[in-house]
Amino acid sequence: FDEEALLKIGRMISEQQQLALASATKPAQCPHRPCWHISPPQGLLNDPNGFIFHNGEYHLFYQWYPHACVHKDKYWAHLTSPDLVNWQWQPVALTPSDWFDAHGVFSGHALSHQNQLMLFYTGNTRIGEQRDRHTTQCLATSQDGIHFTKHGPIIDQLPEGVTPHIRDPKIVRHNDSWLMLLGAQTSDLKGRLAIYRSEDLHTWQFDGLYGQEFGDFGYMWECPDLFSIGDETFAVIGPQGIESFSEHNTIPHHNGIARARFKSDKGIELSDFEHLDYGFDFYAPQTMLTPDGRRVMCGWMGLPDEIDQPSVENGWLHQLTLMRELSVKDGRLVQWPIAELDALSQPEQAIMLSDQGYSLESKSFDLSIELEWGSQLNLFEGEGSQLMLIADQSRRALVMDRSQTLNRAQDTIRELPLTGDKIRLRILADSSSVEVFVNDGDAVMTSRVFTEPHATGISLTGTPSLARVKRLNPSRA
Ligand code: FRU
Repeated sequence: FDEEALLKIGRMISEQQQLALASATKPAQCPHRPCWHISPPQGLLNDPNGFIFHNGEYHLFYQWYPHACVHKDKYWAHLTSPDLVNWQWQPVALTPSDWFDAHGVFSGHALSHQNQLMLFYTGNTRIGEQRDRHTTQCLATSQDGIHFTKHGPIIDQLPEGVTPHIRDPKIVRHNDSWLMLLGAQTSDLKGRLAIYRSEDLHTWQFDGLYGQEFGDFGYMWECPDLFSIGDETFAVIGPQGIESFSEHNTIPHHNGIARARFKSDKGIELSDFEHLDYGFDFYAPQTMLTPDGRRVMCGWMGLPDEIDQPSVENGWLHQLTLMRELSVKDGRLVQWPIAELDALSQPEQAIMLSDQGYSLESKSFDLSIELEWGSQLNLFEGEGSQLMLIADQSRRALVMDRSQTLNRAQDTIRELPLTGDKIRLRILADSSSVEVFVNDGDAVMTSRVFTEPHATGISLTGTPSLARVKRLNPSRA
């Protein structure tokens, strides 16, 4: 077929769709809608994409299916921000409208290069009666940071020994070359990292498959990221089809971080896989570098198979996590809410929490507390609902139990193994989510928590403890 002609038709469709989408308004009435997290105006949100600082502004895109709360042909929604807290909705950046991405403008990263904003993404199409998956890696660029021109595939063949499950490009600079990292599935159904190399960002040579050190570790690795903090280099991968260490966690999709070392000849060696999150809802994170040198991460607060949530009745599904600064402490990666979030805080209150309970009259707060082993913190308490955080001495774990909430998923417990005498928590809540930072960010438990609108009580069973609480104001989203 005539690719040029199809490209042209594709662009026309994409402009019409953009006009229609620009007039979409928020189904704002939903009581579960977050006040300061990024959520879709309607439809389904999944992975954050293209997270970058470019020409004086932060840019963040996300995977979006605007027409319903299902995983179908994805768009790239686009937001910009001066401060990583207040976000401005921009015209949709990329629509699934061309012959190379008609069934999904899939995930990828951005590069701010020679005054251009470059988006690298996976073009997903389904061909023929069998709907065979056809995958290319594509490029789109923008001069003004708002309007994007698609350049089509820059890699249009599969490397040998890899299935069409190869996607989610991340571009890094190494030894005067550009590297493109991709999540890949080998023909014998193992997840691996694929790497391509380029001198000019337009022509790419296949370099190899990496991660063999991990052996049989899932059937596919999605959404890679790679970055350094100080002398340490880390690779993020999303292995699909691995078992959890916990009998309670039956979900096969995990996100983890591994140590990465560039080998002297070529390629990367991975070691020490660790979970990035111990809660229910965390996947496909991306990181970016701020102008003052901080590494900031944002993830999807959702999972690929989880589409039955109460917000669907109001026409929207899923949200992103808060922005987390990453640092290295005693050789380990630590996550912490970015300092910019303090701009949303109301004055701090000190509350002695006990089993008497306390009504915060808000589901949007930042709470710090230290728990003794054997105690239980209940959040979002209301008629018959609560989220339980149990410092379970016998399991030596912090247990998050969402069995008494409106969440519909069948498995209701997550656990974080812990040693040490005390458990210090900083919890950021926003309507229908919690992000629990444990022991100064050593570990995080991220979860959606649906409860009745007035479930704003907090209580603590076991030894009473002084909590410091700040209600959080809404951000501009
Ligand atoms: C991860 C993922 C990516 C893919 C995108 C499609 O959630 O499956 O691998 O690019 O979502 O929306």
